[in-house]
Amino acid sequence: MTAARQIDPPEHRFADELAFLAAADDGARPPGWRMTPRAVVTFITGSGGKPVAGPATAGSDGKPVEGRVVEPKFVGERALVERCVVTLAGERGLLLVGEPGTAKSMLSELLAAAICGTSALAVQGTAGTTEDQLRYGWNYALLLAKGPSAESLVPSPILTAMTGGAVARVEEITRCLPEVQDALVSIMSERRISVPELAGQEGATGYAAPGFCLIATANLRDRGVSEMSAALKRRFNFEVVPPIADLDAEVALVTKQARAAVERGGARFAVDEAVLETLVVAFRDLRTGTSAEGWEVERPSSVMSTAEAVAVAASIGLSAAYLPGPDPLSLLPGHLLGVVRKDDPSDAERLLAYWDGALRRRAEAGSRMWRQLWEHRDVLRD
Ligand SMILES: Nc1ncnc2c1ncn2[C@@H]1O[C@H](COP(=O)(O)OP(=O)(O)O)[C@@H](O)[C@H]1O
Ligand SMILES: [Mg+2]
Repeated sequence: MTAARQIDPPEHRFADELAFLAAADDGARPPGWRMTPRAVVTFITGSGGKPVAGPATAGSDGKPVEGRVVEPKFVGERALVERCVVTLAGERGLLLVGEPGTAKSMLSELLAAAICGTSALAVQGTAGTTEDQLRYGWNYALLLAKGPSAESLVPSPILTAMTGGAVARVEEITRCLPEVQDALVSIMSERRISVPELAGQEGATGYAAPGFCLIATANLRDRGVSEMSAALKRRFNFEVVPPIADLDAEVALVTKQARAAVERGGARFAVDEAVLETLVVAFRDLRTGTSAEGWEVERPSSVMSTAEAVAVAASIGLSAAYLPGPDPLSLLPGHLLGVVRKDDPSDAERLLAYWDGALRRRAEAGSRMWRQLWEHRDVLRD
């Protein structure tokens, strides 16, 4: 028994499924991989409701079952995930770019967990990230006591991934200063990290073992970020991760995650699907700048991401579970205001304009949900 965790990494959470998929497909694997590229894609995008044939495993009732249905984890185009997997199979760097909250980090964790069994070898890029954090550092107590040695070396997650033939992840790579990013150029082209302090000793050079590869993520909207150098760009295949295209898929994801957030606390999820659909539609209108009917909507500068929609749906769910009272729909305008105001306070006016525009037209067309939402307009006026 392991202690409960607020966030369980995918290699732990889906351990059974990963073991099953690794055993189920005995096709060719790229060097160092735990499973075939096809099994990686299935792990991430699901098996489409059909069981994957494989070794018998214990079902929920303890009886052995043949095959297993794999749930989708990343909602999006299978072709995108396939391209990511092929990039990594070819030992190229993979850069996932997109708006914040489009599951770039999640996708990189799922890829790492499936390919090498751990998503933990990650460096978070910030303006303060140093080259040492990408290469190696020292345990100063040991360094002083024993001098430079393999024992006193503290490898970065990237060096650990290299020598262990695993997937390294660099989050928000464009937040790192250009000279720090450049440390990755030599790592990715030479596929080794040398430690001059250990010249002549064991561990003087860490060589990349088969299976080592690198996944980086970058947000398109971050302000004050450093551009990537051309040299570094050439070492990555870029994949743009778009927001979820399909309304029903987004509603289903938001519902599933909000429900999970409430049920984690042992409470009952008591928000109507219709409320969540209204929430997701409002997010999509404000994200894209047009309503489903084709009416123009003024876009706020904040990112109306699926991740934000999940957060709002979970708050409404928690509120309904722990502090039951008002109609859950009445909580929506306040939460939307909170999301929209994050970037620019004047975006509150854009939200009001949305209420008086698209939302009102829907209310007038007779939709019950939108009429109720329209009636909560007062929340938006300070
Ligand atoms: N396409 C998607 N498939 C599955 N979950 C998604 C998707 N888009 C957003 N999410 C939700 O958003 C959360 C945040 O995603 P994250 O990986 O942190 O985004 P990013 O790194 O792009 O900012 C995910 O954990 C998931 O709940
Ligand atoms: Mg991220």
